Amino acid sequence: MCGIVAYLGKKAAQPILIESLKRLEYRGYDSAGIALLQGDGLCVQKTSGRISVLEQILPPPRSIDTVGIAHTRWATHGVPNTVNAHPHADYTGKFAVVHNGIIENYSTLKTWLQGEGIPFLSETDTEVLSNLIGYLYASDEPSERGHGRHRFEWAVQQALQRLHGTFGVAILCADFPDTLIGAKRGSPLILGVGSDEYILASDAAAIVEHTTQAIYLADNEMVLVGSEGFHTKTIDNVVVAKDLKRIEFSLEQIELGGFEHHMLKEIFEQPEALSTCLGGRIDKQCGKIVLGGIANHLRALTQAKHIIFTACGTAFHAGLVGEFLLEHLARIPAETEYASEFRYRNPIIGDDTIVIAISQSGETADTLAAVEQAKERGATVLGIVNVVGSSIARATDAGIYLHVGPEIGVASTKAFTAQVAVLSMLAIEVGRRRHLSSDAAARCIHELGKIPEKIRTILDQSDHIREIAAANVDRENWLFLGRGFNYPVALEGALKLKEISYIHAEGLPAAEMKHGPIALIADGMPAVFIATAGPQYDKIMGNIQEVRARGGKIIVVATEGDNEVRRCADHLITIPESSELFQPLLTVVPLQLLAYHAAVLRGHDVDKPRNLAKSVTVE
Ligand code: G6P
Repeated sequence: MCGIVAYLGKKAAQPILIESLKRLEYRGYDSAGIALLQGDGLCVQKTSGRISVLEQILPPPRSIDTVGIAHTRWATHGVPNTVNAHPHADYTGKFAVVHNGIIENYSTLKTWLQGEGIPFLSETDTEVLSNLIGYLYASDEPSERGHGRHRFEWAVQQALQRLHGTFGVAILCADFPDTLIGAKRGSPLILGVGSDEYILASDAAAIVEHTTQAIYLADNEMVLVGSEGFHTKTIDNVVVAKDLKRIEFSLEQIELGGFEHHMLKEIFEQPEALSTCLGGRIDKQCGKIVLGGIANHLRALTQAKHIIFTACGTAFHAGLVGEFLLEHLARIPAETEYASEFRYRNPIIGDDTIVIAISQSGETADTLAAVEQAKERGATVLGIVNVVGSSIARATDAGIYLHVGPEIGVASTKAFTAQVAVLSMLAIEVGRRRHLSSDAAARCIHELGKIPEKIRTILDQSDHIREIAAANVDRENWLFLGRGFNYPVALEGALKLKEISYIHAEGLPAAEMKHGPIALIADGMPAVFIATAGPQYDKIMGNIQEVRARGGKIIVVATEGDNEVRRCADHLITIPESSELFQPLLTVVPLQLLAYHAAVLRGHDVDKPRNLAKSVTVE
């Protein structure tokens, strides 16, 4: 949510900042801006709209402007217009700030600063920070507050200490043209360390083109970057040493590579991504699963009396599949809770409760807060996270990385299948350590190992699925219906369609339809059924007939070779035969493609759906 980037080096900053912003655009894209430190002060340019709009208003880059900050916004405080766009200069014109996060006490601080005669131009919380820094910097100067650059640093520290809420910030001061300050609390911030250049950014995607060496700031830490190097401290001025870490992904992984959209690329990457996620963890010979990241917690997991999954959005749906798997294979009571609800409940957490947070980005504010809440109550908290070194990965006691490479498309696809794959492995291994027979575990492992190849055969139906989308794309209301393990997939199918095509869709357990939603069925309303082979097949066939009798358009995801379902389907998509336990890994794929094609046919920007952002770092 909001992308920030800053550059200090020897090259022209403007083109580097713009290219980096484009790599962060999936974090927010309603307005954008840039500030450069020039010989005669700060030059701030900003606009509503996308980065391409910003590019049009920028003057040609100058090689002498080698320090700058930039921002792409997802509005929280104030409509997305030019005045509210970042960077925000302070009232003295000396400072410029880009910010990701929410300053919760901005209103109190703003009232106080206004009382001191400080003018405000925007409705944003961020302008409070720039004005507060400017005010403190200009205030009467007791000698202990330092001079020169120390005073800049002191003013930033003092201002940040007064903030409640979250921030990832980059700050420039016109008095010190070779200095850049970054700081964070609750929002991510990484410093890329190149030779003679530094790039500070919300995520590694903006850095990897320039360097693979980085330091990851922890909460309440700041970094001072200058031509002579960088120093890290806490915001209350305690020096901290940070290790350089290697950024694990490559530029190629974040480029389109011939695909029209990142979402399509990521859907098609799933066989490969899942092979990587499963590979090295499945020990076919011994019939075991090796989950190194949580090795020290497997005993606790095996003895747990209660497991709570907590997550948001697509990751929540993966959690639901995990809950079913864990109960089925390991016979441990499990529940899945929206992180935003969990954190405000009074959850019952005992010594034998394990909380598992699931998050692609590892930065979702609600999930992070749920992790903190569970820790405070004494739970062991594990993470299933994609982004290495992210806030949730660091906040949890241990975890399992997805290892599927960066996911750029706002609508999550490969992260979902990888989350479900990890949860499948977890359930099999915990089950094997409890009561699951070695044979049964080996059969599960064998089944799981075949999933990537089976997904390939589903991807081959992409053109056919596009035709189904084309035949129904003018309908404004859709239902997605599944039972058992495929019920969370129905929820996910509906979410995908809503997110990117803006078609209203509801996901339901198929049998619930007759308790209300069946009233919605009218002539030609698309109803997508997941009616694959399994114990509930006959039941869902009955549900199909109920909708068909009322004039609904029947789109079915079924198992290959099922001729019975063919007779009652208007459109049929098939998946290879598979144990019902692992069917979600297959049945979700056609629904991802259906949503993708529907959105493209409707002319939407699939990778940047309206009002959404990839990483929701605000509550
Ligand atoms: C946003 C994204 C969703 C994602 C959810 C949780 O809403 O648009 O695609 O599922 O956040 O994100 P996380 O990174 O925690 O998995």
